[in-house]
Amino acid sequence: MAAFMAVFVLLAVFAIGAFANDPDMLQDVCVADCTSVLLINVLGILVNGYTCKNISTITPEDFFFAGISQPGQITNNILGSKGTKANVKDIPGLNTLGLSMSRVDFAPYGLNPPHVHPRASEMIFVLEGELYVGFITTNNKLISKVVKVGEVFVFPKGLAHFLKNMLKYPAAILAAFNSQLPGTQQLAAALFTSDPSVPNDVLAQAFNIEEKDIEKIRVGLTP
Ligand SMILES: *[C@@H]1O[C@H](CO)[C@@H](O)[C@H](O)[C@H]1NC(C)=O
Repeated sequence: MAAFMAVFVLLAVFAIGAFANDPDMLQDVCVADCTSVLLINVLGILVNGYTCKNISTITPEDFFFAGISQPGQITNNILGSKGTKANVKDIPGLNTLGLSMSRVDFAPYGLNPPHVHPRASEMIFVLEGELYVGFITTNNKLISKVVKVGEVFVFPKGLAHFLKNMLKYPAAILAAFNSQLPGTQQLAAALFTSDPSVPNDVLAQAFNIEEKDIEKIRVGLTP
């Protein structure tokens, strides 16, 4: 009986994990009340997401954003890509909807380096160009493909993935996420440019290289 209960509890825990996502909405809308953030901080009230605006004050602008209508300005010449987000921080009406988008623009041969979104799966649609994209499973299997204009590809939640422009022409993608705020962790930046730094000996041991090579990588990644 005890063993049965243990299995049941384990299954329940995994089931919750498997379906964990942005929470479902409890009302028509809960437009993020950005003006109350300061007051809420003063009062020490913490909420999962944002508190709602009074519904009598919501406007079409709360559900609108023009920020991904134009290509993002590519300023990082080493990577040659620029992501532009369209999430709850840009669109207050997304609060509690479990949904957001972004676009990424690529210079010729530009790279969106390996990264994870801890809170969302992602589906990309190629607007322009041709990209080599892929993700890596927790069994270390690379699932990759070349995708072209109008084609889509999916990156499962939490798995490391990347996108590389294959051609000497610009490229661009639109991305959809099942979270109002997917979060992005760039793997190289997280490991080598965090503040405070991950100690050199930790990284040297993890990558099985000399500490002086860690410094070289750090310097190369610092913008
Ligand atoms: C929302 O605004 C309306 C109109 O100003 C007001 O009557 C109502 O009391 C407000 N609701 C809350 C919860 O503040």
